[in-house]
This record gives sequence, C-alpha cells and structure tokens, in this order.
Amino acid sequence: PASHPHYRIGFAQCSTNGPWRKAMLAGMERELSFHPDVQLKMLNSHDNSELQKRQIHELIASSIDLLIVSPYEAEPVTPAVEEAYRRGIPVLLLDRRTASQAYTAFVGADNVEVGQTAARYAARLLHGHGHLVELLGTPGSSATSGRHEGFAQALRDYPGLQVVSQVTGNWTENVPKSELTAALKAHPEVTLIFAHNDGMARGAYLICKELGRDRQIKIIGVDGLASEGEGIELVQQHRLQASILYSPGGEDAIRTALKILGKQPFKRENILGTMVIDSTNVLTMRQQTDKMVSQQQDIEQQQGLLQHLRATYASQQVALYVSLAS
Ligand code: FRU
Repeated sequence: PASHPHYRIGFAQCSTNGPWRKAMLAGMERELSFHPDVQLKMLNSHDNSELQKRQIHELIASSIDLLIVSPYEAEPVTPAVEEAYRRGIPVLLLDRRTASQAYTAFVGADNVEVGQTAARYAARLLHGHGHLVELLGTPGSSATSGRHEGFAQALRDYPGLQVVSQVTGNWTENVPKSELTAALKAHPEVTLIFAHNDGMARGAYLICKELGRDRQIKIIGVDGLASEGEGIELVQQHRLQASILYSPGGEDAIRTALKILGKQPFKRENILGTMVIDSTNVLTMRQQTDKMVSQQQDIEQQQGLLQHLRATYASQQVALYVSLAS
C-alpha cells in the first residue's frame, strides 16, 4: 500500500521557480504515478547553496534510499553529495553537476554541446562575421560553465566572430538591465546575443526592443519549452532567432532511479539530446509537443479511471465479505 513506500527518494532541488523546473517536477510526478510504492521527498533550496547543503544532510539523515540532486552551484554542495555517496546512498545528478565524480548516475543534456551548437548556429547565421554579447547564467552552476566553455571553444573556429561583452544574469528574465544596456550602447555594431537560457533571452529581447535594436540583434536562447511565453512561442513570435532544446529530464531521472533501486542494469551517463529550434522547424516542434500534452492528459485520465475502478472493486469485496459473514 502507498502508506508504506517500498522506496524513498530524496530530491535536493535548487529551485522550483520558473517553468523549466516546474516541467522537471511534473515529469517526475508523471513517471512516479506508475509507481505508487515510491515516495519522493523534495526540498527546495531557493537558489541558495548553503541551504541546499543543509537540505542534503537532512535528506541523508532521514534515511532515504536514493538521492537526486540538481545543484544550484557545483562546488558548495560537493562535500555533502560526496558524503551521501560514501554512506552508500545512490546519488543521481540531474541537469547540473557537482565538482566530483562521486555519483552513481547523471541525467541531463550536454551543456558544452549546447554552447557549441549556439556558436555554430551564430556563425552560419552571421556568415562568420560579427560582434556578439554573451549573457551568462549564475556563476558556479555547471550549466553556466559548460555552455560558456562550449561557446568559446567552438567560436575559435570562426575568427570573424568576436564576443565583445559578457553580462552575468541569474537564469531569470530579470537580467541586469543597466549593465546589458551599457554593453549594447558601447557596442552599437552588435548583431547577436547568446543568452544561456530562454528566460534571460526574453529579458534581453525586451531591452533590445526598448533600445530600438530588436531587428538588428538576433537572440539565441536555451531550453525550448513548449509552455506559454517560453522558447517555442518566442521563436514563433520571432522574438528569439533560435532556442537550443534542453530537456528537464524529470521522467528519465525517475526511470534511472528506479533501475538503480531495483538493481537493474543502468547507464551512468544519460545524456539527453539537444537540437536547434528555429523558424525552419518550430511549427513541427509545436505540433509534436501539443500532441504529447494531449497524450499525457489521456494517460492521467485513464489513471484516474483505474483508481476509481480499484476503489469500487475494493468496496465490493468488503460488501461480499460482509454478506458472506452474515
Ligand atoms: C532552470 C534553468 C534552465 C536552465 C537550467 C540550467 O532553473 O535555469 O533555464 O536551462 O536551469 O541548469
């Protein structure tokens, strides 16, 4: 019965803010709905590494069977995650990594590849010539270092492309406005911004628009979410030139976790695929994601029906027992 979970999974989540993290959790819950004997305990650290560190210790102390971590910043939580691993708790890193090899499995896309893809796309778009701005995620997040590293590395093949300014954001639409405005004013020749996620890309778009430069400056974001106001829609609206798909991987994380717990074979590195979403394929993407959403709703409805049937069956059994006993 659900009141006595067979497995307890602890989840140290860096934040529950924003549609991407919400999609991740929804994916986990969807997958868990097939496994009522598995309990998920999520602690949200509100983008605070100190808190996340304490929460990991709290989860270790509450005798979980497996730990999922999506670290806010890599370094500060590394010792806590290493401790869990040393104590024999399987550790699954989701989306962002720690600074250590002490983990059982990783699920997430390759951030270096994301950065490389952005650079190559920019090169093709600008025919190898232009001045760029890079809008980075939170320093210390492995996603930031990976995307930056991949972008810089791939740009070395294109000497005509030059990053003239770097601005650090915090993964949200609230990009440092005065800083980005100053950078764009200092470089009136800039024709492209690579933002490390779509939230910051949306913020950058609004600033470009305010400066009257939204036509001149092409923006590349990352995530490509299907929800309202997110990557796919932003590309359809031509606010973003492109978004690099970066799947939240909630379902995949739970599937891998269950394999680990069930002592089944599993892969240590589960790298989710990425792709460029731009005007050439955005309509197909939209149709595919719409179809997925409606299939997911069907599944949820069927599960509700099943639960109802089970409850009816259980009460009928009780009625049968009572009538036999009397
Ligand atoms: C959400 C998010 C995504 C980004 C990922 C990187 O918190 O910022 O937008 O792709 O985290 O880890």
